Amino acid sequence: MSQTLSSSADEWSRFAPSFMKMAADGPGVLPAHSMVAAADGSYAFSSASLILDIGTGPGQIPSAILGAYGHTIPESARLVASDFSAGIVEQLEQRKKLEIENGHSLWARLETMVCDATDLSAFSDGSVSHAFAGFVLFMVPQARVALDEIHRVLSSQNGGGFFALSSWQGSEWIELMSFVTKVRPDKLLPQLGPTWRTVEGIRGELEATGFQGVEVHSVETYMPFEDHDEIARYILTEFPGMKRLTSDMTRQELERTRDLMVEDIKSRHPTAPGRLVGTALVGVGRK
Ligand SMILES: C[S@@+](CC[C@H](N)C(=O)[O-])C[C@H]1O[C@@H](n2cnc3c(N)ncnc32)[C@H](O)[C@@H]1O
Repeated sequence: MSQTLSSSADEWSRFAPSFMKMAADGPGVLPAHSMVAAADGSYAFSSASLILDIGTGPGQIPSAILGAYGHTIPESARLVASDFSAGIVEQLEQRKKLEIENGHSLWARLETMVCDATDLSAFSDGSVSHAFAGFVLFMVPQARVALDEIHRVLSSQNGGGFFALSSWQGSEWIELMSFVTKVRPDKLLPQLGPTWRTVEGIRGELEATGFQGVEVHSVETYMPFEDHDEIARYILTEFPGMKRLTSDMTRQELERTRDLMVEDIKSRHPTAPGRLVGTALVGVGRK
């Protein structure tokens, strides 16, 4: 049995400080680099008018853009990182401040905004040259509404605005989340439907929205860990959906689940520090 992966903006806000630990070295970083390189190859950032990141989290995508192409973005262009969670946006503002203090002055160009993926009314039709949605649309209950909004705000100029999204084909941390049901078979597990975990599913969504030249490719990525126990605890009790799922479990049930998870992690990765592995799917298209 399953339920959707969606979590509330408040759940994401509570997760924000722990999520920030994965900002510069975590699962989203390599896919972000791949999405951003694909963007520049298709529609150079030097021709950007407005770059919009939706569900930005700790800012893996703006970080990849600023690091590799920040100096090429025209003065007149805007770079906006949006998220529906005020807590996440607050953390990203803190990251921006730190990045600037550490000499990454291009971060001063980043604007942040609290905004739901299904309502991009802050952006007019055709105003966006590049849109990104990293690991977010599969969590949005009305993902087609979000895709239609993205299509609406993208420009029709220069051969059509560019869009990239990412999702999970699979990962060890998603498998580890399911260990809850070994101890509590009554639990409904959050799951990614076939639309978002297959090449065909993602291509279908993008084409049905009207995107042209759609391509989907996989990217191998990882979640670093220092300690087997700590990463099991992080996944079991801190991931936004998991916190809710495990809130009524007894201490003994949680400990039993964590023991099973640790056993599994050690069988795959005997030494610590180490890396859990996952495969992302990146879908790109033009308006
Ligand atoms: C897994 S993180 C993705 C972070 C980053 N974009 C990346 O590529 O790794 C998902 C983010 O989407 C945000 N989010 C979830 N549902 C959303 C919605 N309906 N609208 C906007 N943001 C949403 C969450 O607050 C969270 O920060």
